[in-house]
Parts: sequence; structure tokens; C-alpha cells
Amino acid sequence: MKTKEITQPMGDVGATVDHPKPHVTAKDYAEMYAASVRDPNTFWAEQGKRLDWIKPFSKVKNTSFEPGNIDIRWFEDGTLNVSANCIDRHLAKRGDQTAIIWEPDDSRTEKAQHITYRQLHNSVCKMANVLRSLGVDKGDRVVIYLPMIPEAAFAMLACTRIGAIHSIVFAGFSPDALGARINGCDAKVVITADFAPRGGRETPLKSNADTALLHCKEHVKCLVVKRTGGQTTWTNRDHDCNAMMDEASAECAPVEMAAEDPLFILYTSGSTGQPKGVVHTTGGYLLYAAMTHQIVFDYHDGDIFWCTADVGWVTGHSYIVYGPLANGATTVMFEGVPTYPDAGRFWEVCAEHKVNQFYTAPTAIRALMGAGNDWVEKHDLSSLRVLGSVGEPINPEAWNWYNDVVGKGNCPIVDTFWQTETGGHMLTPLPGATTLKPGAAQQPFFGVQPVVLEPTSGDVVEGNGVEGVLCIKDSWPGQMRTVWGDHERFEKTYFGDYKGYYFSGDGCRRDEDGDYWITGRVDDVINVSGHRMGTAEVESALVAHAKVAESAVVGYPHDVKGQGIYAYVTLMNGQEPSDELRKELEVWVRTEIGPIAKPDLIQWAPGLPKTRSGKIMRRILRKIAEDDYDSLGDTSTLADPLVVDDLIANRMNRR
Ligand code: PRX
Repeated sequence: MKTKEITQPMGDVGATVDHPKPHVTAKDYAEMYAASVRDPNTFWAEQGKRLDWIKPFSKVKNTSFEPGNIDIRWFEDGTLNVSANCIDRHLAKRGDQTAIIWEPDDSRTEKAQHITYRQLHNSVCKMANVLRSLGVDKGDRVVIYLPMIPEAAFAMLACTRIGAIHSIVFAGFSPDALGARINGCDAKVVITADFAPRGGRETPLKSNADTALLHCKEHVKCLVVKRTGGQTTWTNRDHDCNAMMDEASAECAPVEMAAEDPLFILYTSGSTGQPKGVVHTTGGYLLYAAMTHQIVFDYHDGDIFWCTADVGWVTGHSYIVYGPLANGATTVMFEGVPTYPDAGRFWEVCAEHKVNQFYTAPTAIRALMGAGNDWVEKHDLSSLRVLGSVGEPINPEAWNWYNDVVGKGNCPIVDTFWQTETGGHMLTPLPGATTLKPGAAQQPFFGVQPVVLEPTSGDVVEGNGVEGVLCIKDSWPGQMRTVWGDHERFEKTYFGDYKGYYFSGDGCRRDEDGDYWITGRVDDVINVSGHRMGTAEVESALVAHAKVAESAVVGYPHDVKGQGIYAYVTLMNGQEPSDELRKELEVWVRTEIGPIAKPDLIQWAPGLPKTRSGKIMRRILRKIAEDDYDSLGDTSTLADPLVVDDLIANRMNRR
């Protein structure tokens, strides 16, 4: 495919913005990148100065990707506190500057809130004292199950203030999924709210939490924030967060934490089994989030930064809360969805708050592109300087629309490739330094050494114009350290297939210029609207239904979501397929996992294509779901080749 290359001007963007010189030029990038891989200790020791340390580190990098000894430590003898870095150190200079602009779900009935750094300090200290009064101590786990309200950020920072480890569960997850995570990390407290308004609808979070807690240890406490004031039931384990914060002291000294103390756990889907608790630690993660936020978005003092993600995902952790606040930025926190009350909502918020950097997912861009240009054009977007994309490959059509219609050709687009596991950006263009290619994540961030491997042999593929699986050769500070409670799983998942390398799970191409293009997951993980979903998880939810005997789930191309969920379902003997049963199964998966896991298409499959040893041939199922069944390849090894004909004949027609 021939792509249009675009050199983005960095001066003179929009009449209302005084455009600063970019932090990193093309020449700086080349020099700094070379230095970062030649001598990581010196490079990262210098970058370590971005943070305020209680006890300065003397050691920088101490990492091993050696089989059997995966051990990752950065700045290990340094101590610091994350909330002090994100709040206290800014108070003298920017106590009255807005730290968080909160934008409600419905701007017609509620107003945005501006929370200054001083107010943030006050609320975080109060919430930290509330958590302490509930018995939370250094190292204890706190699950956060909240809407996108300021209290979500207060709760995260309050945990870091007292050294507790937070684990956020996206408010769209079901009670079952919440319960599994509360138990998985053995949390002492769950912080939730009465309801979560989103897109004009309300999720009953407190009631979900009640259901989840039925399956958790009795001593787990529930701290409830008032969001809508709607009616909820109240039990012995519940505590009223608002009342307790009113009473709590606004003084709370930050606890000294070692750089390698866990900061948070975030559960994410993989190709096998239950979601894994990805563990990030204090020093390296914060430094990496802060540095990437500043450089990749070319963030300058006084800018208004908006990442539209939810704090339930890693993007919200790194680029709504930790990165921006460590840099003393003003960060926008948005409770709603892109299309409510109408498809102009994103652009209205950009205009209203004079947003300078805007960061969203391709699925949102595609949905808004479909709504038409008028929604964009009626808002003044002249404050925008940098646009970002994350979560899945962005197709050139959406890239061009983002560039032309939203950015008016003046805003570099940073297509940032990264993962929950990587803590921050791994491959990305830099504004002002990179000649952009629509759809490419392009070049490694400092310290990141991508390698392309031949998938079967694991040999390193040298040179340009090549394709393979994407691995990383050496550690970077934002890397996850372990899987909570299961270091072996960490080793096996990320270092098991290709010895000596971190394996991303993604395929990639390195083009003739040496730029990287992510081609998508090569494992059984699918990417639905930028959300990661293990096909095994959806399958186990389906087979948990009494009428289902077997199921296989694959992804298929979806115009808006990127990938949709295609489920093949074999029913128990005697069960008849029907539209009602199809609905029932959809509702079932929503309840087991959450709305994001609901299959888009369910095909009744009298049999699944299996090898004689009983292994499901997913390759064939993927091809049928993709409507690409002319190229099924060799099916002669199947136990019963006829099932394939049935699956093709009855494939779900989605046109
Ligand atoms: O497949 C890649 C895709 O999203 C996966 C990571 O998902 P998650 O851990 O949920 O984190 C999402 C946000 C950081 C990756 O393995 N992905 C993420 N960003 C991109 C991407 N694929 C292509 N281009 C991207 N910019």
C-alpha cells in the first residue's frame, strides 16, 4: 500500500495558541535514542531527575530477561511517594492552577468542575485518612469501581499517599468480574459509587458491588461515593465516603515508598485462562508515564491535556492521572461518551476548555467520522496542537479524517503503540520530530529496543521491509514487574515463547525506512473498540450456560469497533437454536463479564472443526468469520471435514 507521508509543521498552529518549540527535534531524537540504548544507566539516571525522590537512587538499571530469572528493577534503592510527586511538589508554584477539569456525562444538566492542585491535595489527604480509618495500610489492596468522577483520581492518589496498592475495575464490568478481581488481589476495601451515569444511562454500581461482595470475604469493606444520589441498599459493610471525608483531616503525610514497591495492579485479558493482574511499581512507572506524557504529546506548562479514556484502563492510569499530574498539567476527565448528547460532544469539550492535546481511540474516530463533518466544524478547535491515537491500529481513512477535519492539517498525530504491560508508550511518532505515515506507530521511544522475530523459529529478522512478531530486547522503566501472585505466569506469558525477549503478542512490519507498523495480535486476544478481550474468557462464559456444550470465539473485521466478537456455539443435545436463545446467551455473557464482551454474532455450530487429536482449528473459524472462506487451506487433517461446509453455509451474514 502506498501511503501519504506528511511533514507536520510545528509553528503557527491556530491563532489563539502561542505555539512553543517542540521538546524534541528529529536531531535530538536520533541523538537521545542512541544514547538511551548505548548507556541506559546514564540516560535514565538523568531522566530520574524528573521526579522528587525522598532518598535519591544510586542504582539505576538492574534487569534480567534471562530464562528462569526474569527480574526487573529500576532505581531500586531510591524512595519516593507518588502523590507527593503528583500534587505536593506543585503546590508552591501552581497551587491555584487547575489540576483536573471534570466534564460530566450530561453538560445540559451539570456543569464542569475545575479542581485546583490545592483542592486536589485537600481531597486526596482526606480520602487517604478515610482509607486509613477503614484499616488500610501500606501494601494493602484497594479495589476502585467508580464512574469517571474526580473521586476516582482522589482514590488512586489517596492509595499512593499511604502506600496502598490500587486495582481499578472498569465500571462496565459485571459483578462476577468485579468479585473475581476483589478476590484475586485480596482487597481490604472496595470503593464504589451509587450509580455511574454514562451516555444518559445509569449503571447501578453499588448494587453490582453488593452482588460481587456476596462472593468475597466478609471483612471486605465498601466505601460508597455519592454520584447521583439515587437510592441504594445499605449493609453493615458499607461506609459513606462523602460523610467521612467531610469529617476527615486534610493533613496526611505521604508515606515513603521504595521505587520497586507495587503501585497498582490492573487486570488484563490474555490468550489463556482468567485475566492477569499486571503489577506496576512506583518509581519506574511514574517516571516513564511522566516522560512519555511530556515528550510524546509535546506537553508544555499551561497546556490543557485531554485523554478520553476511562481510568479503568491503563491509558487512563498513565495519561489522565499519573503522567499529566506528575508534570503539573491540567488534565481533563470526561465522564461521558463521544456521542452523547450528540456526536459533537468531544469537539464541544475541546472548544469549551481550549484543549491543546487530544488523545482518543480509533474506534471513536471512526464512529465520529461516520456522523459527518458538521459536528466537528461547528466548534472552534483552534486550540488543538497535537492529536493522539491509541488502542488498535488506525486505518488510513480514519487517520486522514482525524488529520484533515479535526486537526485541519496542523496537528501532528501521534499513533502510540503500547500495552497495559508496558506502562507507557513504546512505539510512537514524536510531534515535530517525525515525518508521519498514516497508520504507522513508527519509531521506538527512548530506551525501547524493538526486534522483529520470525514467528516459528524465533530468529531475529534483520533489515528493513520485513515482517514478524514484535519483541523487545531489553527492559525500560515502565515495564510491568510481575503478575500479581504468579511470577511464573509472568515469565511464561511474556518470556516463554522467545527466550531472552519480552514478547508483545503483536505482529508487526518494519518498512523500508525502518518504521514500525503494528499488524494486530497474533494470539487469541481480540481488540474490540480498543478494549482487549481474551477469546478464552468469552468462551468460558458461554460454556458456563446450561444449554451450551461448546463454543469457539474469534474476531472479525468490524467497521467501527475494529474487531467484533464472533461466537460459534454448539448446543447441548436436545436444545433447539432460536433467536430467543441467542438473546439469552448475549445477556448471559454481559452478566458474566460485562457489556464489552457481548458477542456481536452468534452462529449455531452443530460441530466445530477439530483435528483428530481434538484441537479446534481456529484458523478456519477465523477465515469463515472474516468471510474469507475461499482460502481455508488444508482441511484434510480435520476429524470431520464436513462441519466446515455447514459452517460456511450458515455463516452469519452481516451486510
Ligand atoms: O494489539 C495492541 C493494541 O492493543 C494491545 C494492548 O491492549 P491494552 O493492554 O488494553 O492497552 C491498550 C492501550 C495502551 C496491543 O497489544 N494496540 C495498542 N495501541 C496500538 C495498538 N495496535 C496498533 N496501534 C496502536 N497504536
